[in-house]
Amino acid sequence: MENKEKYALVTGGTSGIGRALAELLAADQYNLILVSRDLSELQQVAQELTQNHQVRVHTISKDLFKRESPFEVYDEVKNLGLNVEVLVNNAAQGAYGEFKDMDINRELDMIQLNIGGYVALTSCFLQDMLASGSGKILNVGSIAGEAPGPLQSVYHGTKAFINTWSASIQYELKDKGITVTALLPGATETDFFNKAEMNESRMVQDMPHADPEKVAKDGFDALMSGDAKIISGFMNKVQVGMANMQPDSMAAASMYKQQKPVEKKED
Ligand SMILES: NC(=O)c1ccc[n+]([C@@H]2O[C@H](COP(=O)([O-])OP(=O)(O)OC[C@H]3O[C@@H](n4cnc5c(N)ncnc54)[C@H](OP(=O)(O)O)[C@@H]3O)[C@@H](O)[C@H]2O)c1
Repeated sequence: MENKEKYALVTGGTSGIGRALAELLAADQYNLILVSRDLSELQQVAQELTQNHQVRVHTISKDLFKRESPFEVYDEVKNLGLNVEVLVNNAAQGAYGEFKDMDINRELDMIQLNIGGYVALTSCFLQDMLASGSGKILNVGSIAGEAPGPLQSVYHGTKAFINTWSASIQYELKDKGITVTALLPGATETDFFNKAEMNESRMVQDMPHADPEKVAKDGFDALMSGDAKIISGFMNKVQVGMANMQPDSMAAASMYKQQKPVEKKED
């Protein structure tokens, strides 16, 4: 079989959008390196992908809340002698509630995972990509990064960082054979909302959620075409367009309505 030595590294490749991206990459005959925390899920997904697509799948169990973890991932990949042609920065989490009530250590962990993890992994693998003159990077941002998000303020801030940082390095690297693509999903049917403890919100209770396979396909196609940015889904494009035209206070009010807890009905 051809091209067996090309590798894609996917953080958070065991669930949701990352799992679907891993499937698409494997179907395109990329060997995979999957990075997330739960070892048994990593082993299960690796087995499924190997069976489905006859590719090699390496797993690295690592907690990307920790500042040293991205560097340890890079060292492990180098020790295995693998060359990463595609880097998918996808693992991220949300946290729900008013900022004044939040556990600051949870918020700081989230900033490390959602920003520090992406930046550190990119910094490491970019040096190899520059040396070889080619490479593809997919940063999973969010439409949340295009508007202030009361009740998810830090999460929205992390995604704003990813969206603009991605566009900045895309520009810096555009003549160097390396593409950088930002994927901006809207609400998607994954475990994200459980982990963020926001099942009470209108966004979960009342609003439609996209299929992670469809979101991943949009991201995969943009990654392969080397596009700078893809907002997945027509209504999400409309929402981003409106948020960009509104004053921040109006965008924040509209986002609050989407994210506030659903009022409990009296019996
Ligand atoms: N779902 C949405 O509505 C939505 C909307 C816009 C953007 N996004 C973005 O899409 C991306 C994927 O999210 P998803 O919805 O697919 O969520 P998900 O189903 O919860 O998957 C998250 C993945 O990241 C891994 N992960 C979480 N915390 C980690 C940590 N500390 N260290 C290492 N790995 C960790 C998880 O595995 P372990 O728990 O085993 O570590 C899992 O594989 C994120 O960047 C998210 O911000 C999601």
